[in-house]
Amino acid sequence: MMSVEWNSFFAKRTKNITGSQIRHFFALTEQPEVISFAGGFPGNDYFPKEDIANSLVHLVREEGRQALQYSPTEGTCDLRMVLSEKMYREGKPCEAENLIITDGSQQGIDLLGRILINPGDPVLVEEPAYIGGMSVFKSYGGITLGIDMDSEGPIPARMEQTIIRWTENNKKPKIFYTVPNFQNPTGITTSLKRRYEILALASRYNLVIIEDDPYGELFYDEDIPLSYKALDREDRVIFLGSYSKVLIPGIRIGWLAGPGQLIEKVTMAKQTADLCSSSLGQQLACKLSSEGFVDKHVNRLRKLYRQKRDVMIDSMEKYFPPDINYSRPGGGFFIWVNFPAYYPSSKELLDLSLKQNVAFVHGEGFSSNGGGWHSARFSFSQPSIEDIIIGIRRLGNIFYEVEASYSVKIAGH
Ligand SMILES: Cc1ncc(COP(=O)(O)O)c(C=O)c1O
Repeated sequence: MMSVEWNSFFAKRTKNITGSQIRHFFALTEQPEVISFAGGFPGNDYFPKEDIANSLVHLVREEGRQALQYSPTEGTCDLRMVLSEKMYREGKPCEAENLIITDGSQQGIDLLGRILINPGDPVLVEEPAYIGGMSVFKSYGGITLGIDMDSEGPIPARMEQTIIRWTENNKKPKIFYTVPNFQNPTGITTSLKRRYEILALASRYNLVIIEDDPYGELFYDEDIPLSYKALDREDRVIFLGSYSKVLIPGIRIGWLAGPGQLIEKVTMAKQTADLCSSSLGQQLACKLSSEGFVDKHVNRLRKLYRQKRDVMIDSMEKYFPPDINYSRPGGGFFIWVNFPAYYPSSKELLDLSLKQNVAFVHGEGFSSNGGGWHSARFSFSQPSIEDIIIGIRRLGNIFYEVEASYSVKIAGH
């Protein structure tokens, strides 16, 4: 029997859809003996299972007519009201009608890609950037242009150079996608000064800013700077929020806030994507938010994740060779590690580490500019405190061995 040659069926645009390298070795890192700093998932032990179970029982029994039914494409009125109030409280005012519920913020990025990107359009992103964001832009034929960062965030002069260079080639970038708080993958938070500078550039060159902020509430030292959305006076910022990191990702509830014209288009795009987001998930998010549970839970999470962050940084200080640099994030889940240039590539280091049952994500996948070969993302959100110490100690031994074999090589020359 002849089987179908599927490649001949796929639409041309699917050639831009590539899998994430993180997913490729996920199966490997999920093995129980592996201590994984690779996944960026929330800590499984921190899910408020009992509170969620009780609320779900209540919702199904008492509000089942709505909770189990389809809901409006743009989201339930109640949840949009709750989120609008939240946005006001956080200094980024937004009316409920300027806000649409999405299936996690990932769907928000995808819907934006769908309505804003033509094949060949350049899209400014951070260098390195969130892989899931870049994959969306590429899947619609966009070309991601990485803007180098320092400890204060994306560098405005680099951004301007890139805009000018591409505009001269008749390809003016029109979008800047950013994760300004505790960025995935670097953990860097863009300073307030930078936010003003980047917003001024956006105004000068007529860019739209997509501000993706799933980690902003998880700060462990000081509160985050004002958001782009709060500073925006020209309706050029689209804000993406999510319940995934502050409550649970399993309900797939996020939101997108922006000007009315944009929300209208996003709503139409969402109609064809999913009709509506999970009604039960929206009701749950709405109930737990309006009762104040989510805020209390986030307070608890800050303490729990802060401890893990501290343990990972302390362990790196103790066990890593001193010429390895790493970011010191004030929140979120991620630490970005830079290895010295004479080390083997981070992919080779990962292979060595996997042999010792420790995983992290090597850096190239986060880069638009062919960089990342000597960098890696470490996440402290999922492993236990004990495993963080054991895993970092094991890696420290590997890295010291790498350095020792290099010294032997040099001495031999
Ligand atoms: C920067 C960033 N944006 C968006 C997402 C997607 O989150 P969700 O769709 O669960 O809201 C993630 C998930 O890790 C992320 O790190």
